[in-house]
Amino acid sequence: MLSLSNDLKPFNPRVNLEDFKGKLNVSLRLLKEYEWLLDAYVLDFFLDDHWSKLPENWQLHFENLPLEHLCELLQNDHQNEKLTWPQELIALKRNIKELCISRTPRNPTDNSLPCPLLEHQKLKHMFTKRVKPKKQHEIRRMSEICALSHHQTPVDFIVDFGAGVGHLARVLGYGFGIQVCCFEMQDELNQQAREIDTKLESMAVKHLNESETNHFKRPVHLTQRLESDTQPEQFLSSIRDALQLKNNDFRFGIVGLHPCGNLGPTLMRMFLGCPLAKFLNFVGCCYQKMTTKITHPRNQVHGYPLSSFLNDNPESQLSYEAREISCHAMEVYHDRLQVGDYEHLRIHSLRAAAERIIVKEFPHLRHCALRNVKHSPGMDFNEYFQKAVQGTRFEALDSRLLSNQQTEEDLKNWKRIVVFYTLRLMLAPLVESIILYDRCLFLMENDCDVRIEAIFDPRLSPRNHITMAVKPQL
Ligand SMILES: C[S@@+](CC[C@H](N)C(=O)[O-])C[C@H]1O[C@@H](n2cnc3c(N)ncnc32)[C@H](O)[C@@H]1O
Repeated sequence: MLSLSNDLKPFNPRVNLEDFKGKLNVSLRLLKEYEWLLDAYVLDFFLDDHWSKLPENWQLHFENLPLEHLCELLQNDHQNEKLTWPQELIALKRNIKELCISRTPRNPTDNSLPCPLLEHQKLKHMFTKRVKPKKQHEIRRMSEICALSHHQTPVDFIVDFGAGVGHLARVLGYGFGIQVCCFEMQDELNQQAREIDTKLESMAVKHLNESETNHFKRPVHLTQRLESDTQPEQFLSSIRDALQLKNNDFRFGIVGLHPCGNLGPTLMRMFLGCPLAKFLNFVGCCYQKMTTKITHPRNQVHGYPLSSFLNDNPESQLSYEAREISCHAMEVYHDRLQVGDYEHLRIHSLRAAAERIIVKEFPHLRHCALRNVKHSPGMDFNEYFQKAVQGTRFEALDSRLLSNQQTEEDLKNWKRIVVFYTLRLMLAPLVESIILYDRCLFLMENDCDVRIEAIFDPRLSPRNHITMAVKPQL
């Protein structure tokens, strides 16, 4: 059984498995039609003349379109009826809307248990100190949802895959009294996590009475890397050691907040491989880092696809470029277009113009020479270039290379790159939905009840879909 939260419809519409496979096939066909757009990296825009790839009527249309109107392509609601678009684009937008999983979160109170400790005047800062607003938002929502899962599917503890410094585990352990066993491969993060736990406990002693702390469960932080081929028995043995369990008489849930790349697929396999694991909640990220048959042909298993249905379909491959764009923040870009934030919108053109200069000098260094540059107001191309090559061997490049007719021409065409990037972003939810559908199907093929739903504000946290699964009661 699968439920997809789409357009704020009531939850839990039962979807027939065959209909669902049909939807996935249609999504893949649509993706194939626009492969030329999805696989075209914006960095290569000038080098590979991506503009010429657009149908001529699109080029004409966009040359005359005020930039702020472009944001229409990135929103599903509130269409401006006065605007006209090429027919093909209208159909594409409609299809994307029909096929993709909604990115709008539902009302949080519908599906979660709130945590009073996060509101405690003296202690709440222990959960938020040096934690970015994005992470605070994620931790709050994710912990509420995990606590509800724990309530609905009682387990002895929860295992957090890729726990980082343990923000989620801390809220679950101290806020909800749930025992959490964290797997994190970076030891320094685990050390930091233990320090924060200790500090929180000493603050709690000062500000809470015993009856308010006796539910506390200090998280256990294990330094261990979980690989695609880690066997369930190895994994369970680490848990038994960490929690000092004598036998296998326990049940647990598995969670992951942005487990990068293959760690998401690994936690799904572990969930299916361990009968003692009863529920699964995770929000994935870095889809481009997953292994595929194309990137790792010799590997036995891959991050994508996971389902037998897509593994049997030779047309199911998603390129690195397509998976990468599916991680970008389309809502933030929409807002920049809407308010005409040209400073930010020009950045891609600076980068693509710089790439053309570098590749002209060093053709073998495509995609690998430029550092990321944080936008600063009023930055011109020279300044951008210097920052982008700072600390690299290109720092010494003759600055005369920067002022040439070609670069001036490229920079003048910055709006074209905004159009092109917007069109790619429009397709991003299609790619992400295919990845999520594949995950769902994989879990469903293994008899789980699955649901996928947007839970974070996409403007704060662009990877905002949770995949939740439970196994049938035996
Ligand atoms: C994007 S961070 C998320 C951290 C944390 N869940 C949070 O939301 O703050 C992913 C974490 O997973 C860890 N990680 C990545 N691959 C791993 C693996 N194969 N085994 C264990 N930990 C891993 C990384 O070291 C990193 O701390």
